This record gives sequence, structure tokens and C-alpha cells, in this order.
Amino acid sequence: MAADDPPPPEHPVKRPPLPEKAPGSGLLIEDLQVSYGPVQALRGVSLQAPEGSVVAVLGSNGAGKSTLLRAVSGTLRFHRGAVTGGGVAYAGDRLTGLNAAEIVARGVTQVPEGRRVFGRMTVAENLRAGALGVRGRKAAAAAREHVMELFPVLAERAGQRAGLLSGGEQQMLAIGRALMARPRVLLLDEPTLGLAPLMAARIAETVRRINAEGTTVLLVEQNAAMALSLASHAYVLEVGEVVMSGPAGELAASDEVRRRYLGESDEELPPQDGGSPSRPVLTRWPA
Ligand SMILES: Nc1ncnc2c1ncn2[C@@H]1O[C@H](COP(=O)(O)OP(=O)(O)O)[C@@H](O)[C@H]1O
Ligand SMILES: [Mg+2]
Repeated sequence: MAADDPPPPEHPVKRPPLPEKAPGSGLLIEDLQVSYGPVQALRGVSLQAPEGSVVAVLGSNGAGKSTLLRAVSGTLRFHRGAVTGGGVAYAGDRLTGLNAAEIVARGVTQVPEGRRVFGRMTVAENLRAGALGVRGRKAAAAAREHVMELFPVLAERAGQRAGLLSGGEQQMLAIGRALMARPRVLLLDEPTLGLAPLMAARIAETVRRINAEGTTVLLVEQNAAMALSLASHAYVLEVGEVVMSGPAGELAASDEVRRRYLGESDEELPPQDGGSPSRPVLTRWPA
């Protein structure tokens, strides 16, 4: 390169792809790039969810939250998307490149956006579908018992068609179905979307309990207040990039997050001058 060449454009240092066996436990997402055909939806997203944590991903519509979870769960291909760079590892094993069933078998299960229960099937049949990959009748029975204990209403409605459940009950069923696979990591995509506050609070309480029982949770939410109250750390996605990350308490206290995601005090702030370029970037949390 000649001495008077302009400096290369500033962008994050490209790290080598994740090794097959990365050190450390938990979920590790590194420099993840995802495209749907010509549309690049994630542009170098890095995130970690240590074993046993609840980590929240906030961001407005279209930011790439669902895409991130799909990339982790191996379900991108069902949406005609693909990982084009970087990768995801769990407990030191690379997940990227595995199919969805293989990823479930490694302990990572997603509850997709919009609940998606099988409406014509009964509650019990929906739960059984979630246990398809689980080896051993005993393991499946234990998982079922756990789900029934978490959501007694599912036991009461076991023979009822899932399509007849309320929105909140369907969300419980969707979570219950995911739990039938006995995940170590649960990926939740907007579990409270469209639910009444009381039901949303119940779902939040359940997420807290699932985590207390040892399951790591990666929680995508537009309900930032709820997500930040559950999570230890959070990331804010904007147009496919992480623009902020840090301890949940710090994010909850940041003006930017309060204004944009907690819907606070818009009227008290001076009008926006077309978007300030100096957005606060909170420190990353130590690995
Ligand atoms: N199946 C798809 N095909 C093409 N583009 C998609 C598809 N799904 C999502 N996108 C695009 O990817 C970006 C991120 O979408 P998404 O991950 O659904 O965001 P969020 O969940 O944060 O609302 C958006 O620009 C969206 O239009
Ligand atoms: Mg989404």
C-alpha cells in the first residue's frame, strides 16, 4: 500500500471464525452476518449469554431480533435466510452449520415469534410434538410433568384444541412445547406480544422461574421494561447492528433507551435534530 493511500475505512476488526471448540460455557455469538437473498439483516452481531443468565435483545421492528434467534436455532433456512459470516457456539460447540434438529439436540430451543401452536391439534399433541427429539420415555414424561407444573392450565386443557386457547394460554403452550425438548438454552421471541398486562406479567414470572431452574434465556422483546426487569444484561439492535449493550440496569437508566424503548418523557425532550450521531455506547460487559 502506498504511503499516501487513504486509511482503510473504520470497521470492526474481523475475527477468525469460531473454532470448533471454543473455550468457555454459555452461548456465544460472534460477528454474525445474515442475509435473506440480497437483504443483509445482521451486520456483524456479537453477543454472549453466559450459562444461567437471562440476556435481553431490544430493538424496534425490523431491527433483526428474530433473525438473530433464527440464526442461533438453525431455522433461517425456513425463511430463505443464511448465515454469511461469523457464527454461533454453545458450550464450546459450533452450532452454525447444524440443522435445527441437531441444534435442539445440543440443548438450544426456540419459541418462535407469534406462538405458532398447531391449532387443530390438542394441547397434549402439541406438547408431544415438542418431545419428538427427546430420547427415552422417562425423559419425555419428566419434561411433561415439569411443563404441567409450570402451566397447570395446560393440564386442564390437555384434550382441547390448541386453537381454542386464549393468546396467553397459547403462549404458555408454545413455551411448554419448547420445554418438552429439555433445553439448556431457551430462545424466546417476543413472548408477551399482544398479551394483556396481567398475562404478560405471568409469562414474565414463568421466564424468571425457568431461568431459576438453570436454563439460560435469550429474550427478544419489544416490551423493553419487562425485558430489562428480567435480564442481567441487554443488547440493543438497530438495523442489524448492536448499538448498545451493558448491564440491564445501566441500559434501563440510559436516556436513549428510556426515550426510544421505554417510551418515557418524549414530550419533555427538545425535538430531535434528525438523529444525533453521538449515541451513547455503554461499555461492554467483561467476558
Ligand atoms: N424471510 C425474510 N425475507 C426477507 N427479508 C426478511 C425476512 N425476514 C426478515 N427480513 C428482513 O430482515 C430484517 C430484520 O427482520 P427481523 O429479524 O424480522 O426483525 P425484528 O424481529 O427485529 O422485527 C428486516 O429488514 C426484515 O424486513
Ligand atoms: Mg421479530
